[in-house]
Parts: sequence; structure tokens; C-alpha cells
Amino acid sequence: MLWKLLIAINIFATVYAAVLQEVFKWRDVGFAWPSEEIKREALQNQDYIPANNLPLGLARWRNRLFVTVPRWKAGVASSLNYIPLNTSDSSPALIPYPSLKANSLPKNGETLEDNHIISTFRIEVDACDRLWVMDTGLADILGSAEQYSKPALVVFDLNTDRLLRRYEFKPSDLKESSFLANVVVDVQHDRCDEAFAYIPDLGGYAIVVYSWKNNESWRVNHNYFHFDPLNGDLTVGGINFQWKDGIFGLALSRVMRKGYRTLYFHPLVSTHEFSVSTEVLRNQTLASDPNSYNLYKIEGNRGVATQASSSNLDLQTEVLFLTQLQKDGIACWNTNKPLNPDNVGIVAQDREALVFPNDLKIDAERNLWVLSDRMPVFLFHTLNKNEYNYRIFRIKVDDAIANTPCVL
Ligand SMILES: *[C@@H]1O[C@H](CO)[C@@H](O)[C@H](O)[C@H]1NC(C)=O
Ligand SMILES: *[C@@H]1O[C@H](CO)[C@@H](O)[C@H](O)[C@H]1NC(C)=O
Ligand SMILES: *[C@@H]1O[C@H](CO)[C@@H](O)[C@H](O)[C@H]1NC(C)=O
Repeated sequence: MLWKLLIAINIFATVYAAVLQEVFKWRDVGFAWPSEEIKREALQNQDYIPANNLPLGLARWRNRLFVTVPRWKAGVASSLNYIPLNTSDSSPALIPYPSLKANSLPKNGETLEDNHIISTFRIEVDACDRLWVMDTGLADILGSAEQYSKPALVVFDLNTDRLLRRYEFKPSDLKESSFLANVVVDVQHDRCDEAFAYIPDLGGYAIVVYSWKNNESWRVNHNYFHFDPLNGDLTVGGINFQWKDGIFGLALSRVMRKGYRTLYFHPLVSTHEFSVSTEVLRNQTLASDPNSYNLYKIEGNRGVATQASSSNLDLQTEVLFLTQLQKDGIACWNTNKPLNPDNVGIVAQDREALVFPNDLKIDAERNLWVLSDRMPVFLFHTLNKNEYNYRIFRIKVDDAIANTPCVL
């Protein structure tokens, strides 16, 4: 009986995996070096250790697909990069953005320029052609862990590739345990100045809000930002580990009443989804008022083993997409339906190619992009460099939700 069930699950997984189009895959990621000599030097000095470069986050803008490579370990060549989408290469070299220099660790007391990126996990392209980068400022996290600069938002104008602003978070925005690794941006294309960024603090269990117009930030606390201790035992890619990551996945709805959106959010270690109106987060007085507790909503539970890193919402169908870390897949939930396991659909599942789907994003043309990278194997063991460990997939949102409970 059991073997029949296992075969059924496997067939199921294969059928669904065929839906996603594999766009890029790598054994090791390479970079576009100015010259072979500079590359050789970087390899020699161990400024570049190929096996330590794990792609993690992504975002698309026109012909560019931005890909981040955080400095988990030493030897990351460049943390913020892009791939030109018209490439015919299926394992393309990453091009450092805005430059290799801006992505290089300072040497011999060299001062950092404002456009530098030490280490970034997630990034966002907004409706005003701006790239928002959450730079943790921290290198070699698993080794010597050196803080080169303060955690900062670094914002570029994509039309000119010029730095618009670097905003360093204040001591009052942070705690000892803070870890800012994601950012979502709340803006309308005709009001670019009135932008807000929401940055989840997965280690300090808070949301840090940044107002572009007022160039001001504040910290928001809530019990729902904490991890669920009953859901921190994870098994991914055959590796068992325990995490306590709090709030991490954030996704914004379309603009509703009075110009506000709903922010859907979840701790990584949790199977619940929550929400709050941006009216609460944007108002520092209200967000700090203990009476705002009940303005946060529990949307529901997604079901067993549905821990998710990233989420993103399709504004047209109002379907939320979620990475499924323990299921090697992608799930969807139509936010117009109550959240319960029956209303959660499986968009894709693949026990080989989708091990640790780390990030997903919907672009301006309603393509869903997914990056998988086997991160737990990278963190706790060693990746087999003869295998394809990192992949990027694409699918049209409407194709992704066809034949799932996410269609209304
Ligand atoms: C991709 O587009 C860029 C800019 O239009 C162009 O310079 C480049 O040659 C193109 N590459 C390929 C492989 O078509
Ligand atoms: C924003 O505020 C910081 C202080 O927190 C200041 O250093 C910076 O110059 C300000 N930037 C702008 C564009 O006003
Ligand atoms: C912010 O919230 C406070 C407290 O609820 C309220 O009195 C105030 O009017 C709000 N401000 C704005 C700009 O909405």
C-alpha cells in the first residue's frame, strides 16, 4: 500500500514540475570579470571561492534579471548582480551591479563609497524603475562575521544606474539579534515620492518601516512576528535542522480604501499567514500604540509542513504565491477565499530541481520567477559541484494557477 502511495506522489511531482520553464541552471555560478587576469588574481587571493557563491534572491526589470549572492562565507565575488535576459547561455555569468568595485570588500583601510553593497539577500524593483537593495553590511556570516557597514537600504535608479539614496538604519530600528534580509516597497507609479519600504526583522521579530518622503524609519512590534516553536524542526534535501526565524515573507495587495494596501506576512518558522493594513504600519503613532494589537489579522493556517520563505501576490487575480521549503515546491492561495489547507494549491513540486525554493517574484508582465538553491545543504554540508545546484524558473501566473484551487 505504502509503495503505491509513494509512486503516486512521485508521478504527481513529475507532472507538476513540467509546468515550470527552467530558464537558468548552474553547478557553480561564474561572474563577468573585467579580464582573465583579474579573475585569476581573485581566485589566487581567495577573493573568489566559486563553491561559496550561492545565489539567493531575484527580481526582474525589463531585460535584466537581478540575482543576489549573499556573503554567507568568504570568497563571494559580488553580492548584487544581474543577467541580461536576451542571453542564449543557460548558465550565464553574473554581471556585478552597479559595478564590481561597488561589490568588492574594502582592502587596506579603503573607504567605502555610498553605492557599495557588502551583502544582500533580497531586493525589489518598484513601480518607479527603482531597485531597492537591503544591504546587511555583514560579510562571512558563517566564518569571521565582519560588519563592514551599517544595515542600509540602497536605492538605485534603473534607468541611469545611479545611486539615489543610501539610508542607514538607526540604532533604535535595531536590536542585538536583528537580521534585516528582505524588503518590499509600497508605492504607486504616479506618486514615486510617497514610497514606504517594509523590512522584516527575522531575528528581532519586528517590521522596520522606512518613509522615502520623510527619510525616516521606525520599528513596529507584534506577537505575530515571532516564530512558532512547534514548526521549527525542518527537513529539506535530506537534512534535518532547527530554525527560529521570525517574520520574513511579506506581500502587498493592490491599493484599496484610502490608498492603503493589505500586507500579508508570515514568519518563516510558521504555517500561518497573517495580515495588517499599511494604514497601521505607515502611522508611527498608531503602529507603536499597544491598542493597535487587534488591527492585525490571522488569515489562517496553510497546513502541515508549509513553512515558506518568500511570498508574492499577483495584483490581478489576488493570488498569493509561496515557496514551500519542506515540500520542494511552490504553493498558491487565492486571498479571496478563506485560508485553510483545502484552499492551498500546489503549483509545482520537484524533489530534485526545487530543493529549497528560496525566492519567488512576479514581474511587471505577470511572470512568476522562482529561484531554488539547496541552501541547507550549502549551509550544513557541502554541495556536490558536479550537480546542478542552483536553478531559476519562470511561468505565467495564469498557467501557474490553472487546475488549482487558486482559480476563482
Ligand atoms: C542583448 O541586448 C543587448 C542590449 O540591447 C545587446 O547589446 C546584446 O548584444 C544582446 N545580446 C544577445 C546575445 O543578443
Ligand atoms: C536621511 O537621513 C539621514 C539621517 O538618518 C541623513 O544622514 C541623510 O543625509 C538623509 N538623506 C536625505 C536624502 O535626506
Ligand atoms: C495616526 O494615528 C493616530 C492614532 O490612532 C491618529 O490620531 C492620527 O490621526 C493618525 N495620523 C494619520 C496621518 O493618519
